[in-house]
Amino acid sequence: MERKRVLITGAAGFLGSHLCDRFIKEDYHVIAMDNLITGDLQNIEHLFALENFEFSHHDVSKFVYVPGKLDYILHFASPASPIDYLKIPIQTLKVGSLGTHNLLGLAKNKKARMIIASTSEVYGDPSVNPQPEEYWGNVNPVGPRGVYDEAKRFQEAMTMAYHTFHGLETRIVRIFNTYGPRMRLNDGRVLPAFIGQALRGEDLTVFGDGSQTRSFCYVDDLVEGIYRLLLSDYAQPVNIGNPDEITISQFAEEIIKLTGTTQKVIYKDLPVDDPKQRRPDITKARALLNWEPKISRAEGLKITYAYFKSLPAEALINKEHKDFTTYNR
Ligand SMILES: NC(=O)c1ccc[n+]([C@@H]2O[C@H](COP(=O)([O-])OP(=O)(O)OC[C@H]3O[C@@H](n4cnc5c(N)ncnc54)[C@H](O)[C@@H]3O)[C@@H](O)[C@H]2O)c1
Repeated sequence: MERKRVLITGAAGFLGSHLCDRFIKEDYHVIAMDNLITGDLQNIEHLFALENFEFSHHDVSKFVYVPGKLDYILHFASPASPIDYLKIPIQTLKVGSLGTHNLLGLAKNKKARMIIASTSEVYGDPSVNPQPEEYWGNVNPVGPRGVYDEAKRFQEAMTMAYHTFHGLETRIVRIFNTYGPRMRLNDGRVLPAFIGQALRGEDLTVFGDGSQTRSFCYVDDLVEGIYRLLLSDYAQPVNIGNPDEITISQFAEEIIKLTGTTQKVIYKDLPVDDPKQRRPDITKARALLNWEPKISRAEGLKITYAYFKSLPAEALINKEHKDFTTYNR
């Protein structure tokens, strides 16, 4: 039988590369697309020799052309960490809006089903906890995080419009903080930040008083949820994340224990519009997809720490980010 063909954007990134692995495992033909603005080919180079894998170096904010049939499109291209999207705000807005529009057009043309990577950030700094899909959010459009949050909200609106007006088959996954191997140590997200500090023998920096909460989902659990949602018939947004909530202070203590570092926790000012609480309500995912996370934080952190420890020493250097002016001008 002919293989199903899937286009994965953001494929050289953290989540995109794990999705490539999963679809290869399921015997799909995978077209991986990325402009490498925050991603790294090392994440997918183990797939390059496969006959059912191809890579396309392309910016999806520009017109996207893919020859041949397509069954599914997974749109995961977007800067995702605060450091990245504060550094490249315009590209972040463009990939969420123009990029999504280009890919929806492609999906319509190919009669493909498309899933978009939305985020818990659409809830902003939420006034309800845990956050159900029905909560509309509390986002500051002109704050520093607005470029990411509003791009994702627009992305959802555009996707729903293609579903409603063009009858396109669409899926929307609202992803809560996810972690695992292939995250970058210096992307500014709290988990790699703490582990990087521990590995460099620095104190762990908590922003604010540490009482703000997060809940961390291991990447394999997330990928399973995305796979099930894609193959389901549900077009409304679905939260995928781990409801096991922890304060940032407690989390820092867990990392200290895990890494055995002798450093301490230091406190700095809270960044503007930092959400005070984050916990997914996963009632829908449980009911519709029969999905819930299986991997505990202790287990997932062990695997992730082993990955970071295995990296070459230069990965530990807290170097400035790439020169983004060479991309996407
Ligand atoms: N990791 C999380 O916890 C999380 C949480 C919520 C949502 N998400 C969403 O999941 C997706 C992937 O996130 P990630 O954590 O893997 O981030 P990542 O930075 O590791 O991966 C993003 C990838 O997209 C690529 N990219 C960015 N702009 C592009 C463009 N214009 N054209 C082509 N490629 C482009 C980057 O080069 C990178 O490889 C993003 O859409 C993000 O918003 C992630």
